[in-house]
Amino acid sequence: MIEVIELTVNGDRHRIGVPSHYTLLETLRYVLGYTGSKQGCDKGDCGSCTVLVDGVPTLSCILPVQEAVGHEVTTVEGLAGPDGPHALQDAFDICGAAQCGFCTPGVLIAAASLLRQTESPSRQEIKTALSGNLCRCTGYTKIYEAVELAARAAREGRKPSELVQR
Ligand code: FES
Ligand code: FES
Repeated sequence: MIEVIELTVNGDRHRIGVPSHYTLLETLRYVLGYTGSKQGCDKGDCGSCTVLVDGVPTLSCILPVQEAVGHEVTTVEGLAGPDGPHALQDAFDICGAAQCGFCTPGVLIAAASLLRQTESPSRQEIKTALSGNLCRCTGYTKIYEAVELAARAAREGRKPSELVQR
């Protein structure tokens, strides 16, 4: 059955028809074309589908889309601002924190949520915040370093690229 719903994604309101059994992830990817959020395990185990719902990191692969109606959804496409990429995106690039990149959108979303809560997270706080995001490639160290670099850049009001010699 097709259901008509209104969904707000990255500040844009969409009125769409969706199969009533769809998850938020399926709606984002296959109805709205926001393919940044990745369909990894599709059962709540890997974190690659993480989006923000009212600012809270949420596994979109296990959230029925109806439950996102009336809430603000933010995907990785919504992280960048008018001035360019989010500091985390720059930092991931600089630190080599993405390899295949499949986990990266979910990691960026979880890390962005952490940096909104604390401007100076410890390594342990970063590990805890990203513990639901599995990466098969990086070994995590570069991811943690990138989050630390982005946090430092935000604290100092500078770009990550201004803090490192390349
Ligand atoms: S795709 Fe959602 S947790 Fe893996
Ligand atoms: S960069 Fe490949 S899964 Fe994380």
